[in-house]
This record gives sequence, C-alpha cells and structure tokens, in this order.
Amino acid sequence: MGINVWLVTLRIADLPLPDVLKDFVIRERGGIQELYPPQEEAVRKGLFDGRNMVMCTSTATGKTLMAELVMVNAVLTRGGVKAILAVPLRALAYEKARDLRIYERLGVRIAVTTGEYDKEDAWLMNYDIVVTTYEKLDSLLRHKAEWLKQVGVLVIDEIHYIDDDKRGPTIESIIAKVKALGLNTQLLALSATVGNAEEIANYLNAELVVSDWRPVKLREGVYYDGVIYYADGSRALIKDLGNPVLSLVMNTIINGGQALVFTNSRSNTVKLAQQISHYICNYGTKLIEPSALTKISSSIIETSQSKLLGEELARIVKCGVAFHHAGLDMDTRSIVENSFRDRLIKVVVATTTLAAGVNLPARRVIIHEYRRYEPGIGMEELPVMEYKQMAGRAGRPGLDPYGEAVLIARSEDEIDYLIRNYVNARVEDVKSKFLTDKNLATHVLSAIASGYASSIDDVMRFVSSTRVHSEWFPQE
Ligand SMILES: Nc1ncnc2c1ncn2[C@@H]1O[C@H](COP(=O)(O)OP(=O)(O)OP(=O)(O)O)[C@@H](O)[C@H]1O
Ligand SMILES: [Mg+2]
Repeated sequence: MGINVWLVTLRIADLPLPDVLKDFVIRERGGIQELYPPQEEAVRKGLFDGRNMVMCTSTATGKTLMAELVMVNAVLTRGGVKAILAVPLRALAYEKARDLRIYERLGVRIAVTTGEYDKEDAWLMNYDIVVTTYEKLDSLLRHKAEWLKQVGVLVIDEIHYIDDDKRGPTIESIIAKVKALGLNTQLLALSATVGNAEEIANYLNAELVVSDWRPVKLREGVYYDGVIYYADGSRALIKDLGNPVLSLVMNTIINGGQALVFTNSRSNTVKLAQQISHYICNYGTKLIEPSALTKISSSIIETSQSKLLGEELARIVKCGVAFHHAGLDMDTRSIVENSFRDRLIKVVVATTTLAAGVNLPARRVIIHEYRRYEPGIGMEELPVMEYKQMAGRAGRPGLDPYGEAVLIARSEDEIDYLIRNYVNARVEDVKSKFLTDKNLATHVLSAIASGYASSIDDVMRFVSSTRVHSEWFPQE
C-alpha cells in the first residue's frame, strides 16, 4: 500500500500473538491499544521470536507489559512451558503477582513464592507463571526442582541490582545456574537505570533496547528556600512553611496531587510523617476524607503485627499521611499502598522499600536526604541509579498527567551540586560484586553444595559464567 510500516505505530492487535491474548489485553489492560516506542523496538528485535533481550528503557515505559506478553504467550502456545518473573523485593513480587492474576481468566495459573529458602516447593509444579524474589529463585535452582526444566521464559526485573552488594551476586548465580542446567530459556532483563546496558546485553547474549523516551513527562529539580529550581532553568515559588518537605508536600496536595517522600532511615519516615500529619489535621482537613481514613486507621490496628508501630501509623493515617518501611509487616504495608492508590492517603513517607518498580499515583516525589548512613563507612551519597529509580515513581501512565522529582538542598551551593550530580548525571555502570570475599565464598560453596560444581574445573566454569568474568577477563 506504499506505507512505510516502520513509521506506523505497532498496535497490540498486530502482534504475532494468539487472538485470545491480544483481545484480552485490549479489553482488560486499561484500554492499551498501541505499543510505546521502546516496546515496539523490543518486538522488532525479536522479543516474540524467542530472542534474549535487555530492555534498558526509562521508568514507566511499560517493561512489565512486555514481560507479561512474553510469559503468557509462552504458556498459552508452547504446551507445558512455564515462566518465572524474578524481582528484588518481596513487596514487588506481590504487586506483580496481583497484576498478573488477571490472566487466570485465560487459564494461566499464577503463583508467588518468596519465603523459606530451603525448600524444593514441589507445589510450584502446578503453576504456569511463578513470581519470586532473586533469593528465592536462587534457592529453587539450588534444589533443582524437576519443573525447572519446563521454564521457557525467565524475566529478571530491575537487573541493575547486579550492582547491589547483597543481591547482585545472587543474580549472577542464578544466571550461572540456568546456564549450568542447560535450560532452554528465553531471558528478558529489565531496568531503567543501567549505564553499561550494552555490556549487560553481551553478558546475557541478548538483543538490546535502550531508550530515554518516557510516556509521561517527568520534571526534575532541586528545592531551596521556597523555590524549586528545575533542570531546564525554570523556577517555581512554593509557600515556605518552615520545613522543606512539608512545604513541598502541601504545595502538591493543594494542587490536587499526591506526594511520595523518600528519606534515609525508618525513624526519619516516622518523624516526617508525624510532622506532615500534624499540619494537615490542623490546617488542611478540607484536603482529606476523615471518615474513610478512620476506617483505614482501624484496619491498620487490626492488621499490624507490631502494636507500637501500628498504633502510631493508625494515628497518623487519620490525617491522610503514612510512613512505609521494612519494619512494617507486608499486610500493613499493603493497606498503606492501596489507600494511596485509592487517593485517600495523600502522602507516604518511605525508605527505599518503595523505590523501584512500583506504580503509584505520586505526582511529586520528594527526596529528603541524598545521603544515607552506611554502617562502618559513615554518611554516603546515594548513587545516581537510586535517585533515578526514586524519581521515576512520579508521573506514571494513567495515574498522573505529569510527574515531578525534587531533591532538597541544605545550602545555596548545594542547588547546583544536586542538579549536576543527580538530575543531569548519567547513571552509573553496573559492576559485578561477585568477587568480594564473602560473596565469592557463599556462592561458590552453594554451587558446590547443590551439585553445580564438583571439581575445580566445574568451579571455574561456574564462575566464568557469571558477569564478573566478563569484567575481569574482557578479552575472552
Ligand atoms: N503501550 C502502553 N500504552 C499505555 N499504557 C501502557 C502501555 N504499556 C504499559 N502501560 C502502562 O504503563 C504503566 C507503567 O508500566 P510499568 O510498570 O511496566 O513500567 P516500567 O517500564 O516497568 O517502569 P519501572 O522502570 O519504573 O519499573 C503501567 O500502568 C502500564 O499499564
Ligand atoms: Mg518495572
């Protein structure tokens, strides 16, 4: 017809997938009709032809949808094939599993498993898609459960965690074990924040999609003394309430948005949430719905396993504010997340528990502290990668018309420093952490104990299929 197909947006309806799946997605996935450009590129590079793929595309570009389609398609079209979705955090595993459950209506059985590492978990055999954490997946691979042979798709979400001291070597171990087992598995690795995406793609023998396109505009800036200094040079005046976080939060909710505040310790989340709730209950009750919040408050009292924390949270929640950290049990955290989604809780103050992957209606993300205490080291600056992950929680498609991320400067000089070193900075390359003494010992011993290596040669082979090998011996 003379039309250049490369210029035509790819529609869900045109994908090489079963009609039943395409119709279902169009109907049930919030009316998604067309692919975003980075999603389209993944399709053109062979995502549905079984190619390994690294998608390193901005936050909120729908990487999850692509993972879903690949996994469900494999289950529906390749009899008996299973898929695994591995994520870094338990909370994220539950969120992803909940979202995937819609596919149960197509007969796809979804399981989530995160706890108890020393079990084979034979029950998983009866499921088609298993959502899990890296640690749990590594444990399942150690047990070499029979059903693993049926895994045709493995998705590793948030692959930049390779850089994490604790979780990174686990990801490398997973990949080494998958290789050692000779599983015929398509690998899909996802992240918004990898500086050296090409190296990761080489390591995984994968096609690469890199993009900084974002469906919802994200403005980034720095707050100091009543003014937000945006990276594009523009400024916004904010009513100064004497406390930077409070000023930014109130400015957000007065304008109809919700705020997600990140700080560097559990006690800081509680302290900031107390200050904000105090202010709203005294001066901003018109902004909240007290009767609905009272109900949420009661359910927190009933649910929370920690009496003291639960009572404090329940008190604060009545003012439309909550804190969120790993000291709260999962059910209580879910109440907070769901009430924020329902737009009843207007402000959540969190540690990094909510910093990656989650979709929440946060118009403005506020980064209270860009430094964090590291035991034995002292105060350390956050990596750019972590900042960009937090910032990317703002402005999610379908939830807000735009997003904003604001860092807080403590002095005038810090404004430029933060713009340069965070807002305009390039995310770091991810580096292997496999070779630190403790990690090397733990993972090599576990490979030996679980039968992945029984000679020095085997150990060498195992280590050489981790990422560290390509970093240390790049010529090979
Ligand atoms: N083609 C599309 N059209 C419209 N909305 C879409 C499309 N693809 C995905 N979405 C929606 O975009 C939102 C964000 O998607 P998702 O959580 O997958 O982002 P992500 O790329 O994984 O981001 P992050 O790096 O922050 O984890 C979801 O609500 C999803 O339903
Ligand atoms: Mg994601």
